[in-house]
Amino acid sequence: MKTILDFFDSKKKNKKISMITCYDYTSAVLVNKSNVDCILVGDSLAMTMLGADSTIPATTDIMALHISSVKKGAPDKFIVGDMPFLSYRKNLTENMNCVEKLMHAGSHALKLEGATGNIDFIKHVVQSGVPVMGHLGLTPQSVHQLGGFRVQGRGSAAKKLIEHALELEQAGCFSLVLEAVPAQLAEEITEKLQIPTIGIGAGAHTDGQVLVLQDLLGLNTEFKPKFVRSFLNGGELFINAFNQFDSEVKQLTFPTVNESYEA
Ligand code: KIV
Repeated sequence: MKTILDFFDSKKKNKKISMITCYDYTSAVLVNKSNVDCILVGDSLAMTMLGADSTIPATTDIMALHISSVKKGAPDKFIVGDMPFLSYRKNLTENMNCVEKLMHAGSHALKLEGATGNIDFIKHVVQSGVPVMGHLGLTPQSVHQLGGFRVQGRGSAAKKLIEHALELEQAGCFSLVLEAVPAQLAEEITEKLQIPTIGIGAGAHTDGQVLVLQDLLGLNTEFKPKFVRSFLNGGELFINAFNQFDSEVKQLTFPTVNESYEA
C-alpha cells in the first residue's frame, strides 16, 4: 500500500500520481486489483450515488458508511476520505469527532476544502497524526457561494489561490487537489509547492490526476464536463447488457438447464 511518503517521493522523482474516486465495495474490489495509486472516497458520492445536485447532502455518517465499504473491498489501497459539508467548520470537539469517525471507518488520510478559516484546524489534525489533503479552486461544497460549478482562479483571483496553496502546505497538508483552475495557474502552484498537487480540470502539469470513477468509466451519460475523459463506454455497455437480459428472458433463452438446479 502507498503511504504519504510515496506521495512525496513521486513528486521528487517527477512520477505522476493517479487517484480515482470510489464509493462502494464492488468497485473497490476492482480498483484494488488495478495499478491506480490511491482512492478518494469523495463527497461527490452525494451526486454519483445518491442523485443529489451537489455534494452538500453528504454527512459524516454517510461518508463513514461508504469509506468502510471501500476499505473492505480495497485493503491494499491508500484511502483518502472527504470531510463533508460543514463537518470541519464547527467547534473543535465536533470537528474532531468527524475526524475520528472517518479514520475509524478506514481512511488513511482526510481531505477538506478551502484554506480560509481552516488553517488552525488542519494544523491540529496533522499534529494529531492524521494526514490532510487540501482542496482548492472549485470547492464544490461552496457551490452556492461560488455561483455555480465554474472555473476558479482566473485573472486577479490567481494570486489569492497561490497564497492559499502556500498556506495549506505550511499548515502541514501532504498534498493538494486543484479543481477546475486554468492549466497555467495549476502549473505555477505545482512548481511553487514541495507537496504534490493532484488536478481535476487543472491541466497536464499537476503532479497527479484524479477522476470520478463514474466519469472515467463513461457511466455518466447525462453530463460530461470538458476535463473528463471516459476510458470506457460503460453506459452503453451496461444498457446493452440490460437489453440482452431482457430479450433473453422474453425469448425463453435464459435461464438454460445449465443455469438451473436439479431436484
Ligand atoms: O468529492 C470528490 O469527488 C472530489 C474530487 C472531485 C476531487 O473532491
